[in-house]
Amino acid sequence: MNQQLKTDRILHGCDYNPDQWLDYPDILEEDIRLMRKAHVNSVALGIFSWSRLEPRDGEYHFSWLREIMDRLWAAGIHTELATPSGARPAWLDAAYPEAMRVSKNGQRDRHGRRHNHCMTSTQYRHKVSELDRRLAEEFGSHPGLLLWHISNEFGGECYCPLCAEKFREWLRQRYHNDIDQLNAKWWTSFWSHHYDSFDQIDPPFAHGEDSIQGHLLDWRRFTSWNTVDFMRTEIEAIRAGGSQAPVTTNFMSLYNGIDYHQMSRELNVISWDSYPAWHGEESVFQTACNTAFEHAMMRGCRPDRPFLLMESTPSLPNWHQRNKLKRPGIHRLASLQATACGSDGVQYFQWRKSRGAEEQFHGAVVDHAGADNRVFREVTEVGELLEKLSTVCGSLVRSQAAMVFDWDNRWALDHTSGLIQDNKGYVDCCQEYYSAFTRNGVELDVISVEDDFSRYRLLVLPMLFLTKPGFEEKLEKFIQDGGHVVGTFLLGYVDESTLCRLGGFPGGRLKELFGVQAEEIDTLYPDDRNEVAFEGGIEGTCSVRDYCELLNILDENTQVLGRYRQDFYAGRPVITRKRIGSGCAWYAAARLDRAGVEKLLYAVWQDAGMEPKVLPENVEYHCRQKGNVRYHFYLNWGDTAAKIQPPANTTDLLSGEVCSGGTALPRHAVRVLQEIISPH
Ligand code: GAL
Repeated sequence: MNQQLKTDRILHGCDYNPDQWLDYPDILEEDIRLMRKAHVNSVALGIFSWSRLEPRDGEYHFSWLREIMDRLWAAGIHTELATPSGARPAWLDAAYPEAMRVSKNGQRDRHGRRHNHCMTSTQYRHKVSELDRRLAEEFGSHPGLLLWHISNEFGGECYCPLCAEKFREWLRQRYHNDIDQLNAKWWTSFWSHHYDSFDQIDPPFAHGEDSIQGHLLDWRRFTSWNTVDFMRTEIEAIRAGGSQAPVTTNFMSLYNGIDYHQMSRELNVISWDSYPAWHGEESVFQTACNTAFEHAMMRGCRPDRPFLLMESTPSLPNWHQRNKLKRPGIHRLASLQATACGSDGVQYFQWRKSRGAEEQFHGAVVDHAGADNRVFREVTEVGELLEKLSTVCGSLVRSQAAMVFDWDNRWALDHTSGLIQDNKGYVDCCQEYYSAFTRNGVELDVISVEDDFSRYRLLVLPMLFLTKPGFEEKLEKFIQDGGHVVGTFLLGYVDESTLCRLGGFPGGRLKELFGVQAEEIDTLYPDDRNEVAFEGGIEGTCSVRDYCELLNILDENTQVLGRYRQDFYAGRPVITRKRIGSGCAWYAAARLDRAGVEKLLYAVWQDAGMEPKVLPENVEYHCRQKGNVRYHFYLNWGDTAAKIQPPANTTDLLSGEVCSGGTALPRHAVRVLQEIISPH
């Protein structure tokens, strides 16, 4: 589990799909020449190559792949070798139809598309393992092999009889073979939904049972677990083939179907694919803040090592509703943002535009017309810049604050009937808090509830509706040890089975810790607003929307720092703080607007002894550290020049200039300033 990526340069590369071009030898040759020109040093190879690798059942053809890997390595380019399980050849589905998924309506897919195999099918698992093991035997000791890229963007769910039976088996284990335990946790006494046996339980088909939150949540948990289990069999096959090279799989940003914290535990390197919709309705800087949140999420999956940006587009994707080009300069900023946030690589999908099929107009490094164009030049520039940053490799972002994000919580909110039906706004709320940290240059990790809190000084718990056994005790200890916590509306309403906590919200010890109780919660119509007047040292007002809890103060040590101004609950508390020793529990009972979140956080940072940075508008800041060297990244997403105040005596790794204090940051510019700090 401890294999690390062995690289002393920031990776710069792409998904390389030469299997499209095997009949075009000139193009293959040209590819290597252009890769060198663009400073490419790594490629993800063979991601969807199954029909080239095993064109007929049991007939393996690896020589073309070896030839390409050899050529790449001769040019100094590493390979991240993929297992090709993300798409199946036609012969495979014909021979093993159980590999094709059954959808929510009970209908089996026909052959086609990709990322749609049944994760349970033993036949499919067997075929995949066999191929993976052979690939590992063949290429495991290739000097160019850097990393295994397991499958591609795992996701989706299957409702076939095999999955249904495996779900039942998973439930039997979870509920110790005791159907009454399941009945109690799923509250099946409502609507006469009692089960007599596990055999009566189905997955939540579209035309079947889909009204029990516990059932729906367990299905999500099972699907996620089964996907991780599938991935584990792939990793085992690689190891059985004798390769100990590190493994990764590419995560899909904030994809809702897999608990990425769980999946991370099986991986040596976290990598992800980032395709923001630049230049849309929100500002470029806001898109950047949301992307920084996603980077922090990936970083938090394995905080002890850098992650990788596995895919991004150098120009435009093809699957957004409208696909807008990244304006000049944005690609450089987005690439260096990934590095600033802790990535040791910037890679693209894909190297060369496909001539036909689904992704022929997706942005790529090399266009149908060739490489004499803006995009290729911008990619080349990024390659040059990353080469100047090789010393940054292996350094880490060290945050004093963390946000707790939990997939079970996300799923519980999704399935809870009531409040706002279509989208409870969990991710949005996390992003709102995260953006306030980014705007003020305060680094924030995104971590799981299971992680060690003691590394941090401040924890933010947006909309943590579902809490798990042991969480309250852990939080209490964190606060008693001097930690600061910000909880929000909907905190601790349900237990891990989605049953409401009896005795009021936030449930159990949380009420006492925060010193408040939410007597009721109001959900507002989209255009409704209430206003909050701050007090107790915080000045001004802000507006709130969506959710307003009606709080009672339970403890004389709980101080009110803001109250509603309107509606029948005008005058009731919204913002509170309870000190516990040197620690502190803050509570925000409503969804605050941007100004409100910022006012609250300013007070929290001050209290926790954390210093926000004074950053010009549209400037993003991050810091990575390795030993006694700090790397300060400043990124100007704005359209005008800005002035920044970095620490004295730094060296700009990109320009080579020595920087001794305040300096200009032109529009769309990036500075990476190296600071040597004294060992003490
Ligand atoms: C990713 C996928 C790639 C490619 C890309 C297009 O999600 O892994 O194979 O399809 O999207 O943006």
